[in-house]
Amino acid sequence: MFDVEISAFILALCLVWTNGSILPEGNNPNHNTNTRIIGGQVVENRTHFAFQVSLRLDGHPSCGASILDTRNLLTAAHCVTNTRGNVLRASRLRAFIGDLNIDRLSAATITRWIRHIFVHENYNIDTLQSDIAVLRVDPMTLGRNINYIPLAVNVPPPNAICTVSGWGLMGYGGIPSNALRFVNVPIISHAQCVSTYGNTLLTGMICAGYYGRDACMGDSGGPLICSGSQVGVVSWGVGCGLENFPGVYASVPHYKSWILEQQARAIASSIRDHSYLYLIVLFVYIKALTYKH
Ligand SMILES: *[C@@H]1O[C@H](CO)[C@@H](O)[C@H](O)[C@H]1NC(C)=O
Repeated sequence: MFDVEISAFILALCLVWTNGSILPEGNNPNHNTNTRIIGGQVVENRTHFAFQVSLRLDGHPSCGASILDTRNLLTAAHCVTNTRGNVLRASRLRAFIGDLNIDRLSAATITRWIRHIFVHENYNIDTLQSDIAVLRVDPMTLGRNINYIPLAVNVPPPNAICTVSGWGLMGYGGIPSNALRFVNVPIISHAQCVSTYGNTLLTGMICAGYYGRDACMGDSGGPLICSGSQVGVVSWGVGCGLENFPGVYASVPHYKSWILEQQARAIASSIRDHSYLYLIVLFVYIKALTYKH
């Protein structure tokens, strides 16, 4: 499929896994919004990937995400928008967190409906500019196997080895994985990545991966981790693991202040939610007093 679009204005391969008929909503036909781990291996110990989240759209595994804090997840905007770039109804999305296998859920798994979706205001479905979103959920208890990942301050230098993980395809046109997989990928310099993708590589995008090692369909929205902090969000590519076509990620350092703002909004709204509750209690109390007479 990658050859079809190479000369087109977009070379994108977004990384949403689409389950057969449910070709989402979510995906410009010019962007292949599917991505799964290529050339990687199965994660044996959940503690090492405690931040990994599986998103389900209408009940089907669709994307990855990562944990920012007890109430917020980070994912790609194209995971939570339709073909016109409009934000999906939050109630169609649910997060599964805590297990390594998405087909065999144990008591360790917690699920959270998505309560609110914050898509970056500069997100563009055609160019995949600012392909980043924060999802608010009801509070989670963090611990060894369900934990947040710190946000990176800088993008590491070229050739630094990072890790991308997900339940995506194990080969382009291959099958998805029920087990969480990861692969180590080098950061590719901006200059080298521009030489591949030209002006489709925009500010706020970073590249990682090499021949035979990449994210692929279904890994979208998942984290790129370097030295224990998140540097990227799986966004797009051309094919998966192709020589000279590295994976493209939304840069976490570039969007860090935006991400922090969304987290702060969640905290503010939680305070608002509670004041609303106090008002109800007060109202009921006043009613009770009134009815005494
Ligand atoms: C998983 O990794 C953690 C942290 O490295 C370690 O403490 C724990 O023993 C490991 N669990 C298993 C089952 O190997």
